[in-house]
Amino acid sequence: MVVDQIQLRNFRNLRDIHLCFSPKLNLIFGDNGQGKTSLVEALHFVSGFRSFRGAKLTDLITKNEHQALIDLKLKEGDQDIWVRLHLFEHSKKLWINEKLTPPGKFRGKMRCIVFSPDSIAAIKYGPELRRELVDEACAQIWDEAKDTLHDFQRALKQRNALLRQIKEGLIDAQNGQRLLEAIDEVYVNKSAEIIHFRLRLLTDLQPQIQEILHQLHRPSEATFAFQYMSQERPWMELDLKAVHGRIEAEIKDMERRAIEVHMGTTITGPHRHDIKLLFNGNDSRIFCSQGQQRGLILAFKIAEIMYHRTTFGSYPLLVLDDVLSEFDEKKRRYLINFLSSCEAQTFLTSTDSESSLIGGSRFELSAGRVNDGNSN
Ligand SMILES: Nc1ncnc2c1ncn2[C@@H]1O[C@H](COP(=O)(O)OP(=O)(O)OP(=O)(O)O)[C@@H](O)[C@H]1O
Ligand SMILES: [Mg+2]
Repeated sequence: MVVDQIQLRNFRNLRDIHLCFSPKLNLIFGDNGQGKTSLVEALHFVSGFRSFRGAKLTDLITKNEHQALIDLKLKEGDQDIWVRLHLFEHSKKLWINEKLTPPGKFRGKMRCIVFSPDSIAAIKYGPELRRELVDEACAQIWDEAKDTLHDFQRALKQRNALLRQIKEGLIDAQNGQRLLEAIDEVYVNKSAEIIHFRLRLLTDLQPQIQEILHQLHRPSEATFAFQYMSQERPWMELDLKAVHGRIEAEIKDMERRAIEVHMGTTITGPHRHDIKLLFNGNDSRIFCSQGQQRGLILAFKIAEIMYHRTTFGSYPLLVLDDVLSEFDEKKRRYLINFLSSCEAQTFLTSTDSESSLIGGSRFELSAGRVNDGNSN
């Protein structure tokens, strides 16, 4: 599937623009603050109905306006698909080929991978961004993973509410324990499924990441491995039954449960786990130079793209927001070569007009408007 056209109304600073894209490479360039990220954010929003910048609906609508429109013309083979997403301050409506459609029905139809400075932050900072990186990748590949993440969040919320009520004495301890036991069946199952999805993805991506790192660091060696951590201990269990067994034991541990009741919140489960990305056997977060961290995340993203290719037989859309400037010459060249050799439709933003990029279409944005592109 490719995005043939996009038309935006009142989306951030993009009040009214219309662009026809190349099925391969699209460069969106311009000075800071002109609307480049906003454009790719709108495009990506349609793929999963959330902003990759974590913005709320009200942030996406132009200030002092009450609604925004994203219109896309998609092409799949020789079929045209017209998508209209109408954003209101607290809701959204989706039309596919002029038919009002529940957003869930469009799920998985438009797969889109984002690579942004935030992806790089996943290596540098705490475990939350790494969990997000992996969960997002799982949700893009397996619809069931998306459901599981959603169900887990609901179970966690319910469990936290109960623990808070026990802590505040609104439910007596004995009744509280009984209710916890009842909730925990779902909570344990969903926790095990999430961990299993994460481990499956990381295990499948590992050889490809390793191979890309080799190419990036040649002639010297570079190895990649991951270590999944729960309660500061490495996680060795891989099959679902063993994963279930361990997480059940951790969640039902009476000592930890007493702490949870005391704190009024859940401290055991996949929302507290860490995923260490090991570069030459060392924790990349602490050990690696910034350049090595960027190389590692570049390898992760490219491996993710290739995984889509093998799983679905086609590439996802790629959004590369402002990442070229983050790389040294060798990694830039690697990424540019990868982009020109792979068939994925790509949307690349940059403050530079990137004269080394050949082919595709170019669009210059200035104050939310397109200076007519010199497509080539
Ligand atoms: N809801 C909104 N309404 C109007 N303008 C907005 C809204 N949200 C953000 N903006 C403005 O839109 C402009 C474009 O932001 P955007 O992040 O797309 O810029 P950019 O071209 O990616 O810049 P950079 O190169 O710095 O990343 C900014 O000036 C920003 O302040
Ligand atoms: Mg930007």
